[in-house]
Amino acid sequence: MCGIVAYVGNRNCKNILINGLKRLEYRGYDSAGIALLQGADRKAGSPTNIEISIIKEEGKIRALEREAKELKIDGNCGIGHTRWATHGEPTQTNAHPHLDCSGRIAVVHNGIIENYAELREELKKEGHKFISETDTEVLPHLLEKYYNGDLLFAMQKVLKKIKGSGAIVAISAEHPGELIGARIASPLIVGISKNENFLASDMPAVLEHTRNFVVINDFETVRITKDKVEIFGKEGKLIERESFKVNWNIASAEKGGYEDFMLKEIFEQPYGVKETMRGRLIDGKLNFDELNLSIEQVKNLKKVHIIACGTSYHTALIGKQIIEKWAKIPVEIDFSSEYRYRDPIVEDNYLFVAITQSGETIDTLAAIREAKLKGAKIVAITNVVGSTVARESDSVIYTHAGPEIGVCATKTFTAQIMVMYLMGLYFARVKEHISQSKCQKIIEELEIIPNKIQNILNKADEIARIADATYKFTCFLFIGRIYSLPAALEGALKLKEISYIHAEGYPAGEMKHGPIALTDTKTVVVGIMPIDSVYEKILSNIQEVKARKAAIFSIITEGDENTKKYADYVFHIPKTIEELYAILTIVPLQLYSYYIAKHLGRNVDQPRNLAKSVTVE
Ligand code: AGP
Ligand code: GLU
Repeated sequence: MCGIVAYVGNRNCKNILINGLKRLEYRGYDSAGIALLQGADRKAGSPTNIEISIIKEEGKIRALEREAKELKIDGNCGIGHTRWATHGEPTQTNAHPHLDCSGRIAVVHNGIIENYAELREELKKEGHKFISETDTEVLPHLLEKYYNGDLLFAMQKVLKKIKGSGAIVAISAEHPGELIGARIASPLIVGISKNENFLASDMPAVLEHTRNFVVINDFETVRITKDKVEIFGKEGKLIERESFKVNWNIASAEKGGYEDFMLKEIFEQPYGVKETMRGRLIDGKLNFDELNLSIEQVKNLKKVHIIACGTSYHTALIGKQIIEKWAKIPVEIDFSSEYRYRDPIVEDNYLFVAITQSGETIDTLAAIREAKLKGAKIVAITNVVGSTVARESDSVIYTHAGPEIGVCATKTFTAQIMVMYLMGLYFARVKEHISQSKCQKIIEELEIIPNKIQNILNKADEIARIADATYKFTCFLFIGRIYSLPAALEGALKLKEISYIHAEGYPAGEMKHGPIALTDTKTVVVGIMPIDSVYEKILSNIQEVKARKAAIFSIITEGDENTKKYADYVFHIPKTIEELYAILTIVPLQLYSYYIAKHLGRNVDQPRNLAKSVTVE
């Protein structure tokens, strides 16, 4: 995720681009840059005098703004980018825009080019020189390669060459006054105004200039001049598309029209999960080079030790179950905050995995340092490229959920779970503990998980109604067994965090050993009970609490008619493989806690007493 903004018109666009980028900072901001076609206005018709001027800076947009103030550059056609790194550290060199060898084509990109490594090798052999570590840099070089006097044509060729996702915008010194854009799976919109037009990732970037928009769809390309917008379909045919008008203010536009970042992020989960699969599941095959482990090392793995805090700890619980079940490697898990104080054992052929969305959690960092001292090899799973944990680990697996602004972890959680599934499957294949056909079946199911999450989100209203009926209850017990237990724990954590209601997550079978004493008419028991190998067991547990007058809300599989006899409220999730239910069942629970908290008038994005990353012990 990142922010793109581009301008073509009559005005000097340096500040238009920088202000637009500031409005997109919520999409990520580890570095930023702009490229302007200098002289494009004054020397129209004489492209040879036109040059591309670039400014790039590490850090927030403010750094770019300071630098840009010093430099006297102007131009009325340009592109800007605020980066949320996926490939390569957040440095000035890796910041966008990126140039081709001639310095005559500049490109900004939001997304991931899955096949960049092979394209880069190919281009290098043909003599192209690369200076950054990004996947993006293949784009200007590909444009250079295919350029035959028409930048749009070159872009259409490039789109056919690349695999992955991307909103791409390019300018060329040979084409003053022209923006060329393209899109595969990352957002790109055109802002239309009088004598000037814009391209952007999102509306807030240009809302102060226009309220008229056109959306670019997947595999479309677009050529924009100050008075013309031409959209082309996959096969290169011109498409007519009506513009639409929005009445949003900037604050609501940043949230994509959602009331809160948390809700927006819950709805972004199909995208985050899909992006996290990118490059790791290619044409039905698993690729985990980034683990930096040889086949031999994986074969010899004796144990995996996972540490994490909060929501990330719940991912660890899922990871344990998956890796043990599929790969037959024993997995130990610890809260990061406990690990270093209990003199843990590190032996040969152990793999130490730290999960942290922010990459800055001090407890997790301290545990990593402790494990390192003891000789462990560290693999980090994080959402933030270049974060402290990423820098201090031997290898990093990035979740590509995009920046998460709400304090509550939502989309980073499902992205982490996806990494656990992919990693568990990879270990299982290498260790030959899973047959090719079973592996294939799981892969096929993983590939449609984003659609199944979307299917749940489409029914958010049903959850809102259940929240409506239950928000006045004072005690919530979330129960589940095996693969549904981490979801129960996470569901309770979400509710506590943002509604401030007492909630507990518990193994359903443990209820009778204590917590059942809590149940009365003010209690809601949330049963996470998809049809799996322990379904009958949890059905009995539900009846036990029903007999004690608790209200029952059950998350069940489509087609389950049985649970309805006992539950006061039910929500259906799509059917999947038993081990994969956790990534689905959590979604209605996130929505449930969200709607309850909203009923109680809570600030869901910034709940009391909490911080997005906990950097103190
Ligand atoms: C999640 O909603 C919480 N805000 C919190 O538990 C969080 O998961 C925990 O602090 C760990 O954060 P990390 O993943 O950034 O390390
Ligand atoms: N993959 C690109 C990079 O790492 C773009 C990331 C983004 O969307 O900001 O530079």
